[in-house]
Amino acid sequence: MTYAAITGWGKCMPPAVLTNADLSTFLDTSDEWIVSRTGMKERRVSHVSATEMAVVAAKRALACAGLDAKELDLIVYGSCSNDEQVPNTASGVQSAIGATKAASMDLNTACTSFLYSLTAATAMIRTGVVRTALVIGVEIISPFMDWDNRNVAVLFGDGCAAVVVQATDKREGVIGEQLGCLADARRTLRVRGMGTLYTNRGVTSGDTEWDFDGQEIFKRAVQGMVQASQAVMKKCGVTPDDIDLVVPHQANLRIIDAVVSRSGVPMEKVMLTVERYGNMSAATVPVALAEALEEGRIKPGALVLLPAFGAGLTVCAHLVRWGDRVTPLGASDAALPPVKKTALEMVQDIRARKVKAHSHAGLHGPVFIEEM
Ligand code: ACO
Repeated sequence: MTYAAITGWGKCMPPAVLTNADLSTFLDTSDEWIVSRTGMKERRVSHVSATEMAVVAAKRALACAGLDAKELDLIVYGSCSNDEQVPNTASGVQSAIGATKAASMDLNTACTSFLYSLTAATAMIRTGVVRTALVIGVEIISPFMDWDNRNVAVLFGDGCAAVVVQATDKREGVIGEQLGCLADARRTLRVRGMGTLYTNRGVTSGDTEWDFDGQEIFKRAVQGMVQASQAVMKKCGVTPDDIDLVVPHQANLRIIDAVVSRSGVPMEKVMLTVERYGNMSAATVPVALAEALEEGRIKPGALVLLPAFGAGLTVCAHLVRWGDRVTPLGASDAALPPVKKTALEMVQDIRARKVKAHSHAGLHGPVFIEEM
């Protein structure tokens, strides 16, 4: 039987920090409100493209696994904020790292994109289609954010991480997962201004306004992640006591608290990054996984539960059995170029670029198929 072990990991966090105090300079919000409702204190704003972050994370993950890029058979790029639609973004990473023998694809399930990508790569390895894959979770939300909407602008950040997955005959890597989509709730989170529904009506791509029903998402996300976690544990014959670490999607500290307590796992077994990075969508889980390894929180043979949700509303929970190695085989000197502006200055630049005066009618109009 072939399994797909995670043998390399690497993150790339943009250095510019946007604090709650920064947000309070142009939004009617406060550090007290944001911390008490979400657990977030800071998030990052990228000064480079998502592809550039992904290239650095990829090189670090490959060095960690002791692999050359030419040994990759597959790159899966999980994201909903692609730099380009055509050509696909994974091919940009492939070209930059020199993975000349790889196939490359983009996969978008919003915040769960990394985990669905991990499933895709694992399934291809387990069925013999490929033997070695790079799975990326990356998001550059800052250019697509409606920075004048306090309901959403305080919640998100940019970031990236990648893992290397390799064929093995040991029972390692993803040993089970539960995937689903609460499509009846898809209207609870919609970014108006990304896609042809909007550009066909003259809206500038990226000039966004967000439909966002935070309380409904909160409720459905907790239900969905608890059900998925229970289902995957049952499928794999494990109990909450067997879980060594939970690395959840980090959209809100209160959501995480509700999910793990209902799943029967104590908070001491949860890896948290939400305070420092906010919700980085697809990058959230792989960055937390990489930091859990850096901090020595994943021991050889550990059983790790990864519950997540994303717009759609996609939900999932993965169980990963870690291998013997929890330290990198090597390091890469790849790094981002220095940042010249503060995070707040970059956000103000994005706000200035928005051309809402010209496109509001298109954004607020009905979606073509009202039921969508
Ligand atoms: N600062 C100050 N006040 C705010 C802010 C803000 N940034 N944002 C909203 N408020 C106000 C609201 O306008 C509301 O005011 P009102 O009562 O006068 O109308 C008040 O605060 C209370 O709002 P609630 O909705 O009750 O706040 P709640 O406790 O539900 O927290 C939150 C809101 C944090 C958004 C929560 O519902 C949540 O976390 N939801 C899910 C998170 C989520 O969906 N994340 C993204 C999902 S996408 C993904 O990860 C795939």
